Order: sequence, then C-alpha cells, then structure tokens
Amino acid sequence: AASGNHDLRALIRTIPDFPKPGILFRDVTTLLADGAGLRASVARMAEPWEGHGIDKVIGLEARGFILGGAVACHLGAGFVPVRKAGKLPGKVLTQDYALEYGSATFELHEDAIEAGETVLIVDDLLATGGTAEAGIALLERLGARIAACSFIVDLPALGGRKRLEALGMSVHTLVA
Ligand code: PRP
Ligand code: HPA
Repeated sequence: AASGNHDLRALIRTIPDFPKPGILFRDVTTLLADGAGLRASVARMAEPWEGHGIDKVIGLEARGFILGGAVACHLGAGFVPVRKAGKLPGKVLTQDYALEYGSATFELHEDAIEAGETVLIVDDLLATGGTAEAGIALLERLGARIAACSFIVDLPALGGRKRLEALGMSVHTLVA
C-alpha cells in the first residue's frame, strides 16, 4: 500500500544551530525529496480521515502547503492556505503568534470557510504548538469544525501536543 512500512524517521535530517544557536532543526526536505517517503507520509496523514466528511484541508505556511495540497487531493477535499501576513489578496482575519525561534502573523481569507464546515489542519512539524494554535484561532472565528491537526513530526519536549489537546484538539502525528 502507499502508506506501507517506510521508515520515515530515517528520512528526516537533523541540523544543529539552525536557524539560531541551540536549535536542533529537524529538516523534512530530505523526506519530501524521497518519492516513497513523500507518498507514504501523505497517505498516512490522510487515511484516518477517509470517509469523515472533511470539506477542506488547511495548510499552514509554508511546509503545510506541500503536504496539505497532497492530503486534500487524497481525500477529495478542497485546500485552504493559512498564510503569513500580507500575502492573501482578499479580506482576511489576522492572528499573531510566537514559535520556538521567533514570532509571526497568520492570515486567513474570511470567505475561505463557511460556518459548520469540517476541516483538517496539516503541517510538517509540531514544536511548541504556537503556529497550529494561531491557525485554530482563525478557523474557530469562522465557525469551522476542526476534525484534527495532523503533522509528520512531533517534538514532544516542546509541548505542542499537550497544548493542542488542552484546547480539545485531536492531534495526529507520524514520527516523534
Ligand atoms: C515551522 C514548522 C511549523 C512550525 C512549528 O515553520 O513548519 O509550521 O514552525 O513550530 P511551533 O509548533 O513551535 O509553532 P516556520 O515558522 O519555521 O515557517 P515556514 O514553514 O514558513 O518556514
Ligand atoms: N524543524 C522544523 N521546524 C521547526 C523546528 C524544527 O526542528 N522547530 C520549530 N519549527
């Protein structure tokens, strides 16, 4: 099967002191560059939600776009980007957030989701959870029903899973 028994962990590269001293950066570009690894990652992120009525997959900029588009195709759902400030052309909702190595602002088109639609949030990696929490806040302002948040990598020491579960979220990850 596409989701097969691939060792996703072995395809993720670790680079010390990026983007700042002291950060051990888990780099998924090596996994994305591997055809079988990419296919297995997308299949394993999507399969739990087949038949669950996902209307839209939400990708968090930037690496969430790569996976989110593919997961949306797998599920036959639409794709909606949550973007860094200043990139979306229509009327937007805005949410500031902090992450492991800085801060940023996310935006979502206010007409991208209708109240009551079911969505799946997708990103490459869960660290502190600040990025996902900002996406959740934007989606909740539009009345979305968030089925789950799905990531390839969980960095448990940074507490993101507990933070999102404390918000009542279902969190799905492939590699810790
Ligand atoms: C990384 C990663 C997640 C986020 C995780 O993205 O792709 O989106 O950080 O961190 P958190 O759980 O502590 O919030 P980054 O902000 O580096 O942006 P990029 O994808 O645009 O490079
Ligand atoms: N890798 C990729 N993105 C990240 C990381 C990491 O180790 N930590 C926070 N965001």
